[in-house]
Amino acid sequence: MPGAIYAEGLVKSFGAVRALDGVDLDVPEGTVLGLLGPNGAGKTTAVRVLTTLLQPDRGKAVVAGIDVLAHPDKVRRSIGLSGQFAAVDEYLTGRENLTMVGRLYQMSGRAAKRRAAELLERFHLGDAADRTAKTYSGGMRRRLDLAAALVVSPPVMFMDEPTTGLDPRNRQELWDVIQELVAGGTTLLLTTQYLEEADRLAHDICVVDHGKVIARGTADQLKARTGGERVEVVVHDSEHLTVAEEVLRGFGKGEGTVDPHIRKLTVPVTGGAKLLAEVIRELDLRGVEIDDIGLRRPTLDDVFLSLTGHHVEDAECDGAGGGSTDASAGRADAGGGAVGRQKRGRKGAGTAGVEAGVTSDREGVK
Ligand SMILES: Nc1ncnc2c1ncn2[C@@H]1O[C@H](COP(=O)(O)OP(=O)(O)OP(=O)(O)O)[C@@H](O)[C@H]1O
Ligand SMILES: [Mg+2]
Repeated sequence: MPGAIYAEGLVKSFGAVRALDGVDLDVPEGTVLGLLGPNGAGKTTAVRVLTTLLQPDRGKAVVAGIDVLAHPDKVRRSIGLSGQFAAVDEYLTGRENLTMVGRLYQMSGRAAKRRAAELLERFHLGDAADRTAKTYSGGMRRRLDLAAALVVSPPVMFMDEPTTGLDPRNRQELWDVIQELVAGGTTLLLTTQYLEEADRLAHDICVVDHGKVIARGTADQLKARTGGERVEVVVHDSEHLTVAEEVLRGFGKGEGTVDPHIRKLTVPVTGGAKLLAEVIRELDLRGVEIDDIGLRRPTLDDVFLSLTGHHVEDAECDGAGGGSTDASAGRADAGGGAVGRQKRGRKGAGTAGVEAGVTSDREGVK
């Protein structure tokens, strides 16, 4: 049986750009899928297709057991969405924004107010609750937007880069909220560029690049694919890089990497702390002064590097990324007149702002 979020062969092109190039997904009920990829990978496009906001060129999607293309209205009643750019009404106060969402979803006035108050506290917006959202900082708008997505608790939630622009305390708070939601049975698809976030929250991770899923598995499975632990050394003097490289090659169990700008060398090893001690001794013997040395497990960035040959960060500049298209170009919102509210085109929340082609959308729950 397909999971709570299911997609098969999704294809979506914008002119020459294949934003989705045959994406398959299957998210079991009550779990979190992390869609991880660099700028322009196709994450938002996938979310927009799955939340009925965009019609795919090809493929099939089923959310909460409902065919997305055949019954978009029904899907909207079963999902919650927090888009990449905050979609708050800036002429209303934080409290009014949240109360309005509750009322739109048929809560009684009292229940809507109570829920609004709860969420305002939870997201550290209590002090600013009665100010118009126009006066909020980017991170505050982001939090208000996320709170709005949680006014009612739909069985399936989509969050597009939920923690982009949040400071560490608020990021941690949101992670806790997400974990509670999922413990309560919600199925969540979350997009992120933060490897740590996918590692921390997602049961399964799909790594996407150029519209394709290039790897999937748990964080541990993905890390295991790139091999075991590595030794990482930062030498004090770049003149010592060559000698250090020679030393590391002697201990390494595979190709190492050198980043001359930060004088850092990395090499896959086996042998743990004992081997680390030997490496330090040998470097010392050869007169190499060390600024930093350590043993670490592969990060998801290493995974990305081994899959694509480049780092997540580097991927931003290559190929299709950037999306400097007009916000209205190529839009094909499924279903038109939506349940709930829908605001678009408003940038917010400290996101890089390179992506004019994405809108702020929220669609409905019951
Ligand atoms: N409405 C649009 N019109 C034209 N091109 C678009 C549109 N929306 C997305 N694209 C292009 O499709 C590709 C995938 O974009 P998408 O927004 O899905 O990426 P993303 O993974 O969400 O990136 P980011 O991390 O920057 O949010 C990009 O090359 C983008 O420029
Ligand atoms: Mg995006």
